[in-house]
Amino acid sequence: MAEILCSIDELTEAQARRFEVAGSAIVVVRIGEQVYALEDRCSHEDFPLSDGLVDVDDCQIECSRHGAMFSLETGAACSFPAVKAVDSIAISVVDGQVEVTLP
Ligand code: FES
Repeated sequence: MAEILCSIDELTEAQARRFEVAGSAIVVVRIGEQVYALEDRCSHEDFPLSDGLVDVDDCQIECSRHGAMFSLETGAACSFPAVKAVDSIAISVVDGQVEVTLP
């Protein structure tokens, strides 16, 4: 199921933003013209990743609770204390509109 979230212009560069889609919380990050989405729940202790900072150079987001880093591209846990990946959400930009597809 594809759902339009917003216009790409409404996303601030390198700033995490939380959306609710079909009852699921996701975190969306724009870096340049690229947009990424992950489930908004750290795999370490169920904390929202949307509260964290974005590392543009490494294309990662930091959990603000204990500092674990996650790949925005894959959801992989890149540093402790998280060891499990979070779900990566299919996201695209179509005619300037940001669309997600939930499984
Ligand atoms: S809750 Fe995210 S690193 Fe601990």
